Amino acid sequence: MSAEDVLVVSGGNPLVGEITVRGAKNLVPKAMVAAVLGDDPSTLSNVPRIRDVEIVRNLLELHGVTVRDGLSSDSLVLDPTRVERAAVADIEVHAGASRIPILLCGPLLHRLGRAFIPDLGGCRIGDRPINFHLDALRQFGAVVEKRPEGLLLSAPQGLSGTRISLPYPSVGTTEQVLLTAVRASGATELLNAAVEPEIIDLICVLQKMGAIINLDTDRTIRIEGVSRLSGYVHDALPDRMEAASWACAALATGGDVFVRNARQTDLMTFLNVFRRVGGEFSVTRDGIRFWHPGSKLASIALETDVHPGFMTDWQQPLVVALTQSTGLSIVHETVYENRLGFTSALVDLGAQIQAYSECLGPTPCRFGRGNFVHSAVISGPSPLHGADLTVPDLRGGFSYMIAALAASGRSTVRGVGIFRRGYENFEAKLESLGASVSG
Ligand code: EPU
Repeated sequence: MSAEDVLVVSGGNPLVGEITVRGAKNLVPKAMVAAVLGDDPSTLSNVPRIRDVEIVRNLLELHGVTVRDGLSSDSLVLDPTRVERAAVADIEVHAGASRIPILLCGPLLHRLGRAFIPDLGGCRIGDRPINFHLDALRQFGAVVEKRPEGLLLSAPQGLSGTRISLPYPSVGTTEQVLLTAVRASGATELLNAAVEPEIIDLICVLQKMGAIINLDTDRTIRIEGVSRLSGYVHDALPDRMEAASWACAALATGGDVFVRNARQTDLMTFLNVFRRVGGEFSVTRDGIRFWHPGSKLASIALETDVHPGFMTDWQQPLVVALTQSTGLSIVHETVYENRLGFTSALVDLGAQIQAYSECLGPTPCRFGRGNFVHSAVISGPSPLHGADLTVPDLRGGFSYMIAALAASGRSTVRGVGIFRRGYENFEAKLESLGASVSG
């Protein structure tokens, strides 16, 4: 771990001020992948300078896509007209760095008839298998060969539309199907699809390119394959995970933060919960202001779920704020089997949290019988004190940062480099909110 990966936080002060969120980490790299499907260049704006964008940019460049900065400082122009095969050794360098490369399967198969995908990375928040992705690709007619260094895919007969029913509304697999079906021959019907705002934004990108995609109210997406797609011009939707992280930081520290660009429509479920806990917010055209009202915070019972439920990425920052609520809060994580590990570090800071493998919520989930620790009871309010912390993953890690800011005294937070995957300029933003952090 390099020295710049360690931050010393002097906590106990409210975060006050304004920060800006830009395009969503969970949309921008996927829209970059979509550009590969077009016959002409695409322009994507509101692109955050984060590591996941850099990784995908490098991967696309290895495949002959020209990526250059656009006219505005936050835009990229992606020219896929000379897409070509990349050397396996070059792609392998990216193994373990991100989960996005799996989404290149469909676009590369359409363009080149072959795709090599390195071993995937992403946050360690459970097994994170890719079985749904591979099953779907096989249904389109892809042949998948598992090699020690990654996956080799081919489509000897081309890719044809199909009917896919997902065992669970997986975000990544829904995107995989969209990016494959739009140029497959014939129609595709996807049942039990995920409908997160980032997926709707990806559908908007694909529609701009010429795709025909119908979204029904029952999680069914119907795609009519077309033989040609053009480039797009698109402004990425803002990052609702980052917005919620700063909202929770405001609440946990007793602060007041205006999140420029945060959008009410994408945060509706979060805002309801924020209000039930006792947080205040006001929505304006330019963003949302979140603040602690100065009175006691309430405890709540909460389940994470796929959209339009309370999203799993909001859970960890909210749990930090719940350590300051009066009474017992209950959290049932139903999306990932291993997303509560971070609570042990909050206990080191003085929080009272007990984790359970039972489903502590009304919805029976996939993890109840598997002995996965996926529910937590948080008892509050607990005064937090400084501690020595090592970041486990992106959202859990950012929650450590929020907890360290809420805690009195000094904390050392190690491994903050991972925040660069999804939080643009986080150090500058912390400073602008009056946080006392030093490298
Ligand atoms: N799953 C399978 N098999 C598969 C795919 C998924 O069993 O082939 C399971 C997963 O193990 C998990 C559940 O299905 O239990 C949901 O996974 P999903 O596919 O929806 O997640 P993802 O596409 O890998 C994206 C985001 C995550 C976010 C989830 C849920 C990106 C790059 N990642 O992951 O974001 O938590 O959707 O909304 O878009 C983050 O931003 O820190 C992050 C982890």
